[in-house]
Amino acid sequence: MAFISPEINLEDSVPVQYSIANKNIIYNDYLFADFFCTSFRLKLDLYLCRKTNYMQDIRKYVNDHKQRFLDELFELLRFPSISADQKYKDEMLKTAEFVAEKLKIAGADLVEICPTAGYPIVYGEKILDISLPTVLVYGHYDVQPPDPLELWKTPPFEPTIRDQKIYARGACDDKGQFYMHVKAFELMMSTNTLPCNIKFMIEGEEEVGSNNLGIFVKNNKERLKADVVLISDTSMISLEHPSLETGLRGLSYVEVEVCGPDRDLHSGVYGGAVANPATILAKLIASMHDENNHITIPGFYDDVLELSATEREMLNKAPYNENEYKIDLKVDELWGEKGYTTLERTGTRPTLEVNGIWGGYIGEGAKTVLPSKAYAKISMRLVPNQQSDKITKLFKDHFEGIAPKSVKVKVTPHHGGEPVVTPTDSIAYKAAQKAILESFGKEPIPTRGGGSIPIVALFEKELGIKTVLMGFGLDSDNLHSPNEKFDIANFYKGIETIPLFHKYFAELSK
Ligand code: BES
Ligand code: MN
Ligand code: MN
Repeated sequence: MAFISPEINLEDSVPVQYSIANKNIIYNDYLFADFFCTSFRLKLDLYLCRKTNYMQDIRKYVNDHKQRFLDELFELLRFPSISADQKYKDEMLKTAEFVAEKLKIAGADLVEICPTAGYPIVYGEKILDISLPTVLVYGHYDVQPPDPLELWKTPPFEPTIRDQKIYARGACDDKGQFYMHVKAFELMMSTNTLPCNIKFMIEGEEEVGSNNLGIFVKNNKERLKADVVLISDTSMISLEHPSLETGLRGLSYVEVEVCGPDRDLHSGVYGGAVANPATILAKLIASMHDENNHITIPGFYDDVLELSATEREMLNKAPYNENEYKIDLKVDELWGEKGYTTLERTGTRPTLEVNGIWGGYIGEGAKTVLPSKAYAKISMRLVPNQQSDKITKLFKDHFEGIAPKSVKVKVTPHHGGEPVVTPTDSIAYKAAQKAILESFGKEPIPTRGGGSIPIVALFEKELGIKTVLMGFGLDSDNLHSPNEKFDIANFYKGIETIPLFHKYFAELSK
């Protein structure tokens, strides 16, 4: 009975029609409460009424505004805000303005488009009372390039609904997801139910490594002060199996160049006598996994925190169907580090992947050439307690060390990010659990995410704030792929769940 709020205000409560299920709960609690006193029973009754009412109010608001919410998201999705390509600079700025405008309309009393050395960060806040807890919402308005365009069924920046899903670049990552927070904020402001202070920080360089965000965070420590960071930029298992990611992998990204002769050569005249950089590169890359698909870079696993048997067991309890997984990806067999399940491989183990490999002639037809150079972009996903700088150095030393003298190699580090594990015993995590339980009717399953959001570790390091990853996307939403999508149902479910998070976070913080 500890959850009964002591300061129930009679005016706050309105009679509600109980559902059968709620009636039962109330009836049982009545019996228990009757034991003590009538006023106690009344308080309990009112508390439960109010709780039920809020959910109903939320659902009503979402229902009354659902078409406009979708229209606005479509407007946002039409901006080709591709941070990787300079060509879209104007579109990036227009997108930032759109986001700022929507935050203002929703009720933020301070909105700023903060310039950085790269793309601006949209900041907005509503401070009700400095004594109340503060939630910092983070998201990103930039998207990945849509290539290869020919594989899209409908154009990436012309959002289209098929099968109750929104198809567009950024639909899930992250426009559709951060926009849920803007609309949930509007809902709380319009219904006068915002229970805490709220700050928004929506950046435009997440997909290119958030290079300027660190500086912004360091320079704005006071302004960004908050009790928790709330991010919807991850996946959940499904609407039937809601889940919360409790960890993200880190990242170490490098580009390698293998240099042979100083010019492309006739592959007949010279072939067989001069090392082919493309062949050497392929060999070097292939040598970095052994027969068990372990990574062969010396020291690579030194800092990896092994999970306990109990942790592994917990993790593997999450629903996962290998057959469906294979069918969805159209592969006949899975591949990965021996001794680990798929959920462990993607959530708790480090990896090394080639993201792109090129060199020599790739045009139409055939050209007999021995290329002068070959290149690859390689990323390594990291897990606690690996550190991206250290891993980048291990890679560089190893790659340079194993290259034969017949070629010269160069390793250029790109961005990195640190792995994180988010707490599951915090007030904020409990608030997320309660919110999901109430809106989905099911306890969320804790999972580990395979992707990276480097800012999460940075928030912890610079501001000492922990994060809750309350994502509503699906792993199968084609993030970074052609035909990215977001289920309309997930979009609305997110808008419905977020106000409950704020409510419970404020309540539990008391
Ligand atoms: N939203 C993703 C990360 C993500 C996706 C986490 C799904 C968990 C589940 C984010 O936008 C992203 O793509 N991050 C990049 C890293 C960044 C440094 C470019 C990534 O994971 O590759
Ligand atoms: Mn994202
Ligand atoms: Mn992404």
